[in-house]
Amino acid sequence: MIKTARILLAGAAAMALAGCATAQAQPAATATSPTAVPIAQAEPEWARPDPKMDAFLDELIAKMTLQEKIGQLTLLTSNWESTGPTMREGYKQDIAAGRVGAIFNAYTAKYTRELQQMAVENTRLKIPLLFGYDVIHGHRTIFPISLGEAASWDLEAIEKSARVSAQEASAEGLHWTFSPMVDIARDARWGRISEGAGEDVFLGSRIAQARVRGYQGDDLGAIDTVLATAKHFAAYGAAQAGRDYHTVDISERTLRDVYLPPFKAAVDEGVATFMTSFNEYDGVPASGSKYLLTDVLRHKWGFDGFVVTDYTSINEMVPHGYSKDLAQAGEQAINAGVDMDMQGAVYMENLAKSVEEGRVDMARIDQAVRRILEMKYRLGLFEDPYRYSDEARQEATLYKPEFLEAARDVARKSMVLLKNEGDVLPLSAQAKSIAVIGPLGDSKTDMIGSWSAAGDRKTRPVTILEGLQARAGEGVTVTYAKGASYAFEDEGKTDGFAEALALAGKSDVVIAAMGERWDMTGEAASRTSLDLPGNQRALLEKLVATGKPVVLVLLSGRPNTITWANENVPAILHAWYPGTQGGQAVADVLFGDYNPSGKLPVTFPRTVGQSPIHYDMKNTGRPIELGAPGAKYVSRYLNTPNDPLYRFGYGLSYTTFGYSPVTLSAASIGPNGSITASATITNTGDRAGEEVVQLYVRDLVGSVTRPVQELKGFEKVMLQPGEARTVRFTLRPEDLAFTRADMSHGWEPGEFQLWIAPSSGAKASTPVTFTITE
Ligand code: NOJ
Repeated sequence: MIKTARILLAGAAAMALAGCATAQAQPAATATSPTAVPIAQAEPEWARPDPKMDAFLDELIAKMTLQEKIGQLTLLTSNWESTGPTMREGYKQDIAAGRVGAIFNAYTAKYTRELQQMAVENTRLKIPLLFGYDVIHGHRTIFPISLGEAASWDLEAIEKSARVSAQEASAEGLHWTFSPMVDIARDARWGRISEGAGEDVFLGSRIAQARVRGYQGDDLGAIDTVLATAKHFAAYGAAQAGRDYHTVDISERTLRDVYLPPFKAAVDEGVATFMTSFNEYDGVPASGSKYLLTDVLRHKWGFDGFVVTDYTSINEMVPHGYSKDLAQAGEQAINAGVDMDMQGAVYMENLAKSVEEGRVDMARIDQAVRRILEMKYRLGLFEDPYRYSDEARQEATLYKPEFLEAARDVARKSMVLLKNEGDVLPLSAQAKSIAVIGPLGDSKTDMIGSWSAAGDRKTRPVTILEGLQARAGEGVTVTYAKGASYAFEDEGKTDGFAEALALAGKSDVVIAAMGERWDMTGEAASRTSLDLPGNQRALLEKLVATGKPVVLVLLSGRPNTITWANENVPAILHAWYPGTQGGQAVADVLFGDYNPSGKLPVTFPRTVGQSPIHYDMKNTGRPIELGAPGAKYVSRYLNTPNDPLYRFGYGLSYTTFGYSPVTLSAASIGPNGSITASATITNTGDRAGEEVVQLYVRDLVGSVTRPVQELKGFEKVMLQPGEARTVRFTLRPEDLAFTRADMSHGWEPGEFQLWIAPSSGAKASTPVTFTITE
């Protein structure tokens, strides 16, 4: 049987780096330039002309007072929970008075109905509320954290996860999710690396689109879809030194080539809303950046939806030192292109005066109001404000068995087998006693990771211990000892060691479930060390010293520096935070009921000192490979190899795959040509398994230096033992476009190397060379 995921190579129109902004100071490539990539004009289905809607909104907006308009530009949290530092009291009074048009952190059919009723029955114009929420990797049924899902490289599975999330969220009265987070992240110190799709532009862009498709479906008005949000715009992942909210200082070229493409991909997929980021770009906080929010997003990319701030980021322009007070911050934000103010109440409290005194045009207010009301209209809220708040539907929808099954499926697909020496895995039938040891072995709370806002962390999640116990057959015992702690302050303690070692001593195999506590990644969760926190490593060393086979099951939301474990522990499985069904999914993989197929979407450094690190680095003028062994004056560290511990794209299987040499359809192509590269992949082992086949390209010489490799395609293929399949990738010159020396976007003629490989580290076959002529 052959199962193939969709062909994943997208053309330049989808990638649309071309749409990335062109600096005003520099000339853009002209339309006649043979190498310029045309700007993709995305026209999402929901943006279709609707004269009836236009007439309705014209009439409504004409009736609105300035205060009522500003109310529509205001989003406040309910008092159910808080996802940021400040809380505003009295949101219910604000609703009834028409001072707020959207609410977040409130859900369930009953509660949204109650709040909706306050808006519809009390306000003069009866404009319904919009309900938003952080539905990030599942709503009630929690899927693996976003970075884990990305490790599946399975776009259908990722889309399915977003689809299920939308079904559950919309059944609880929600209209809008603050997802997908599409920030490229290349520094594992940054806690929010867990929330995105990793370090790569190509993979990240495809995943951004899969998620938008999953949330929004092809009809925003359908009862089971929600508005998606591309966040955080822009370059949030480039925070200096990996510290959250820190300054971003990157080149315009890096912004365009690395950080913007996933956002552009989301626009092309029809994403309905954008969220600004907390950071500054080039000295301007994103919520005040006309360049990002208007020049790039509206003028270059043609985005038609609305823009919301991230939380109090308008207010934060004051401490940034960009605004002298909140009134000025509000003016800068609205004039830059922010339509909706989340939680800061800056618009609510200042904007009317700014309009009255002429610093903000009424036309701009009307534009923002229209963008928001349009979404309410498209969702069908003016026809029936309560259509998403249906308790019977909620009852019938949450935790459907098929949703739980989908969560288990994505979870096992997300797991990455990092090491398997001596085929310790899958667990042998001879293993009659299994010891689960470590703070993550029986912890429901940790299984679902951060940003699982409506997720139940107390009762529903299946722990690793429970998953293994449920799967282990007759006559197999699975017992647990916590043994160690992941709390930073417990480093040096040895309290639980004796119990854990005694258990290990009388077991056939040890499953060491270690990693980070669930909230050690996510927002405001940066670290300066990537080591296993607490006293886990010390216990791990002692467990290995018992001589029992040890399997490290790592749970965390970032790459950890597990160099010692890689050298000393025979088997390592990265399980991320696998979600509600995580324990079962871990059992599926450990027992071999599922053959692991995940590949890393991020590079794992050997030491935190290598950060930031990513696979598509530049060569430098003194690459280490060009020096004699041990040469001093090359680009290297004195004490650590340049190579990471595990490369982007890396992951093992219980079977093995062979790669044939690559064949090319042509050695040279012209500007309008395309080239097809093929390789035959064979399952050379004795189990069925899936392989993520990856296409890498190197542009040898450019008007600016180019990375040593870039992912340009991938395909996940299922192969039976002995089965072979030829995988083909087609590339056009536009697929090789970048921001050139003159800041225009396009490809350049010249020589390219190409190879097809199981990871970014492995040139499975000798690279082949081809030329693009002018
Ligand atoms: C702050 C976070 O940065 C953002 O991702 C989230 O959507 C909002 N808070 C709302 O909770």
